[in-house]
Amino acid sequence: SRKKVWVSRPLFPDVLARLAEHAEVQAEAVERRHAPEELRAKLAAADGAIVGLADRIDAAALEGNARLRVVANLGVGHDNLDLAALTRAGILACNTPDVLNESTADYAWALLLAAARRVGAAERWLRAGHWPEGMRFDDWLGVDLHGRTLGVLGMGRIGRAVARRAAGFDMRVLYHNRAPLPEALERESGGAEWVDKATLLRQSDHLVLVLPYTPESRHAIGAAELALMKPRAVLVNIARGGIVDDAALAAALREGRLAAAGLDVFEGEPRVHPDLLALDNVVLSPHIASASADARHAMAELAAENVLAALGLVPGRPPAPLNPAVLEAGRRARK
Ligand code: GLV
Ligand code: GLV
Repeated sequence: SRKKVWVSRPLFPDVLARLAEHAEVQAEAVERRHAPEELRAKLAAADGAIVGLADRIDAAALEGNARLRVVANLGVGHDNLDLAALTRAGILACNTPDVLNESTADYAWALLLAAARRVGAAERWLRAGHWPEGMRFDDWLGVDLHGRTLGVLGMGRIGRAVARRAAGFDMRVLYHNRAPLPEALERESGGAEWVDKATLLRQSDHLVLVLPYTPESRHAIGAAELALMKPRAVLVNIARGGIVDDAALAAALREGRLAAAGLDVFEGEPRVHPDLLALDNVVLSPHIASASADARHAMAELAAENVLAALGLVPGRPPAPLNPAVLEAGRRARK
């Protein structure tokens, strides 16, 4: 009988059609959160699943599941997947790396520029009809990017794409990672220099966060770290909510210690901390950094290929496995 693939949210019709060439597809028609019991039942009735970052796939979601072989995440970050639980259950987990790097880096710059130059607040003011009242020459003063220092915390593939773009703004680039990159990669990344985290915080005029969410990166930017940052610095988070202590950030923005922030992700999203919503010097967006037409389509295609290959419905290895040990174990079992 045909393999069954559950898709937890609406997806591009051509990608669903590609899946349907090889499998029976059950795709949710509306975007919504699935209750734990419902999620468990949907996963138990499928051979493969395509899920989003709002779907938490942990041991409870997999309880009693004897059928599922693959979970493909629509995203590069995978803190919503419990890889240990998936591996124990012999289920392959996959993500969507690389296809979103450049679009996500573009968006980091959109937030940097919008936050530094107050695009959102100025637009709200204009739309509210204030311009006819007149404007002073020294109203709407923003912070420059060109010639300043860009800091990147988390210099993975996306971080490097963010750094590379700084050349066009004549910026000095600093970064922090657990270990420095090979020199050739630093050269390709806007001539980025490795510094320790405290130096990064002290010297960056504009700081972009691009690190994955892990128990260790929770509140990597809290009150103590914000206190090290330059007065009038700009902070951008395109990584994950929870990496920043949002209450501490709101306090720093309210007191004018930071000039501005651009945030695409939030602690406990889709809720946004009310203190952030109350501020004018923060640009907020609903986790859309990878949402260009091309990047999101490529992510959906990659998720579909991950599922089809993992189920043996197309030739070859799944392109982006997160726990490849499951593939090796499967190969042994079939011998
Ligand atoms: C988006 O947040 C992703 O991880 O792809
Ligand atoms: C993942 O976050 C990456 O930077 O590749």
